[in-house]
Amino acid sequence: MYILGITGSPKGAKSQTRRLMESVLAGAQATGATTELVDLSTLDVKYCTACGACYAKGACVINDDYPPLLAKMLVADGLVFGSPLYFSSCTAQFKTMLDRMADPIHTQRFLGKYGCAVATSGGPEFPEVNDYLTNVLVRFGAFSVGSVGCAAMMPGAMERALPDATALGGTLAQAIADRPVFADQQAIHAAMHARFKALVTMSQERFPYEYAYWQQQGWLD
Ligand SMILES: Cc1cc2nc3c(=O)[nH]c(=O)nc-3n(C[C@H](O)[C@H](O)[C@H](O)COP(=O)(O)O)c2cc1C
Repeated sequence: MYILGITGSPKGAKSQTRRLMESVLAGAQATGATTELVDLSTLDVKYCTACGACYAKGACVINDDYPPLLAKMLVADGLVFGSPLYFSSCTAQFKTMLDRMADPIHTQRFLGKYGCAVATSGGPEFPEVNDYLTNVLVRFGAFSVGSVGCAAMMPGAMERALPDATALGGTLAQAIADRPVFADQQAIHAAMHARFKALVTMSQERFPYEYAYWQQQGWLD
């Protein structure tokens, strides 16, 4: 069982979000998972140029650290998405990675995976980014088992959140083992399936890779 955590703070080892994510991953390890933490601040991930090559060929043409990062996401059983809250959303580093993932969402590449979200903020708004990251995970096809966060500057908030983070990591690893189904999220998966089926069918000539992928999955029958 392999769980990949990806965190988007620019602060490296000083990041509060990363600290919380490390506890999530420790909890997952204690429940039997092999874990890896990728800190986006150490990677070179360039902006998507919307060239459309990934739709046609299934691979990004930009030669940077994104293609190997995507490869890790695709083999992971579990994904932990983490970001500080910057103005009601994730950081530019995290968003830049997401913007490179138009083909993986069209091909619903997180189906069968489980995930969770981690966020911190200065004030009490961390749930906004946790909701955003959870929504992204589910729209890519994963089941989310929850989120953890805190207003990192508030006295005692991090200390209170750390045990919750460890517990969430355990819940994530257990879900990968037990494979629960969440009906509300399954409804979102069904809606995304219908939407991308229509898109891929309509765009067969422009998106030959994606059309072939959907065919191989038996999703166009
Ligand atoms: C550019 C920027 C924008 C931010 N926007 C918000 C915000 O809108 N609301 C908030 O509560 N905190 C905001 N913060 C504070 C961070 O969310 C907070 O310090 C967070 O814990 C940092 O996480 P990190 O240590 O993992 O980088 C912002 C910080 C920066 C640098």
